[in-house]
Amino acid sequence: MDNNANLTPEAEASQGTGPRLLACVAEPETRQVARDLAAAQGWRNPVAIEGGVAAAHEYITKHAPPNLLIVDIDDVEDPVKTLADLAELCPPEMTVIALGKRNELTLYRDLIELGVTDYLLKPVTLAMLERSLRGDNKRQLGQGTAKTQAHVVSFVGVRGGAGATTIASSVAWCLAHLYQKRVTLIDLDLQFGNAALSLDLAPAAGLREALEFPSRLDSRLLGAAMLEESPRLKVLAAEEPLVDQMHVAPGAIDTMLNVLRHDYDYVVVDAPRILSEEVRRILTLSSTIGLVTDLSLASARDLLRLADFARTMTPSARHMIVANHVGAKHRGEIAKAEFERVTAVKLDHVVPFEPTAALATASTGSVLSAALKHAPAAAAIRAIAMRIGGIEPAAAKSNSVLAKLPLPKLPAKLSPSAFLPSFLKRSA
Ligand SMILES: Nc1ncnc2c1ncn2[C@@H]1O[C@H](COP(=O)(O)OP(=O)(O)OP(=O)(O)O)[C@@H](O)[C@H]1O
Ligand SMILES: [Mg+2]
Repeated sequence: MDNNANLTPEAEASQGTGPRLLACVAEPETRQVARDLAAAQGWRNPVAIEGGVAAAHEYITKHAPPNLLIVDIDDVEDPVKTLADLAELCPPEMTVIALGKRNELTLYRDLIELGVTDYLLKPVTLAMLERSLRGDNKRQLGQGTAKTQAHVVSFVGVRGGAGATTIASSVAWCLAHLYQKRVTLIDLDLQFGNAALSLDLAPAAGLREALEFPSRLDSRLLGAAMLEESPRLKVLAAEEPLVDQMHVAPGAIDTMLNVLRHDYDYVVVDAPRILSEEVRRILTLSSTIGLVTDLSLASARDLLRLADFARTMTPSARHMIVANHVGAKHRGEIAKAEFERVTAVKLDHVVPFEPTAALATASTGSVLSAALKHAPAAAAIRAIAMRIGGIEPAAAKSNSVLAKLPLPKLPAKLSPSAFLPSFLKRSA
C-alpha cells in the first residue's frame, strides 16, 4: 500500500471515521491522480492501495468506509455483481467512481443503474475525476434504481446572522414564483427557525411529529404539516417550546424526503449550523450545498472549516459559497478581494448589503427577493436560484434589465496582514 496519510487506516478507524478518499487502483500513475484529487480538494489522509474491487472489499471489511471510493474494476469478471456485494458493506451516502478498460455501453449502463456515480475509462486524469464529482446526479451504491428525486438544496450560515434564512427562503421563493418550480422550504431549526416568519406564515406542529415518529409519516400527515405560501411554495417549519428536547429519529430525514420527492422539484433546506445527525444526513443527500458567509475575519475561519466539512460529507454535491451583507459596515468586513485572498476561497455569489432589507421584509411580510425586487441584492439572489434551477439567463427574460443593474461599488478597505489571525496568514 502506498499511503501518504498522516494517520494510519487503523488510527482513522479507531476514531470512527474512514478516509475521505479510498482509491483501489492497479496502476501507480492512477493512484497518484487520486492523491492529486485529494490534494486539490484539500482532503487529508487519502488512502491509495494497489488492486481493485477485491482490495476495496478487504479494506472496507477491516476499516471504516471512505466518503469517496475510486475503484478499478478490471480485476473482476463481473464488476456489477461484485460491486453490488460491496454495497452491502457501505453506507448509502458513499460516492463511488469506477475505473476500467472495458469500453462497453451496457457495462456503463449497468454500473450507473447500480448507483455508481461514474465509470471512467483508463487512463484517467485529474480533470476527469473532478468532472465526475461535479456531476449533479448524486447516486448511491446499491440504490441506483431509486426513482427521480427532488433536488435537495441546503443552505448553512457560516456565522449567526450571516443570512442563511434570507438566502434559503428567497431562493425558494424565486424558484417557485419566477421559475415555476414546485418547492418545499424546510426549516430544520425546530426551536429558533424563522424561515416561516420570513414568509409571514405561522409555524405548525406537524414537522416535529414527522421527524420524531417517521413510522407514522405519509404524504397525508406531511401535507397537513405543510404551510402554504402559494400553490407552488410549501413550507415545513416549527416553533417548538424551548423546554422540550428534540429527538429526531434515525432515518426520519430519508423518510421525509422519500415522501416529498415525487411531488416537488426542489427541497430547499435552511439548515442550522449545529451539526446534528439530521443536518449531516440532509447535507449528505443534498445535490447543492450553499454556505452563506459575511466577509468578516471571524466568518473566514469557519467558512474554511465548514467548506471542508461539506465537501467531505458530500463530495459529489455542487458546493456554492455565497457572500452576503457585502458592503455592510457593521460586521467587521474586509474587502471581497482581500477575503478571497486570505481564505484562498472563490466566492461564487455576492449578495450586496441592502440597508432597507430588514424593514422592507418585516413590513411586507415577504422575503427579500419579493419585497425589494429591484434591489441589487434581489438580482444576486435570483442569479443563485437560476443557477440552482439550471435556468439560462436568456430564459429569464423578465429579469434581463434587473440583471444588468450595476452592483454598488464597495469601499476598498485595507486589511493589513499584520492583524490577520495566524491560520489566515498560513492560507494567504
Ligand atoms: N443582503 C442583506 N442586506 C441587508 N440585510 C440583510 C441581508 N441579508 C440578510 N439581512 C438581514 O440580516 C438579518 C439576519 O438574516 P438571516 O435571519 O437571514 O440570517 P441567518 O444566517 O439565518 O441568522 P441565524 O443565524 O439567526 O439563523 C435579518 O434581519 C435580515 O433581514
Ligand atoms: Mg436563520
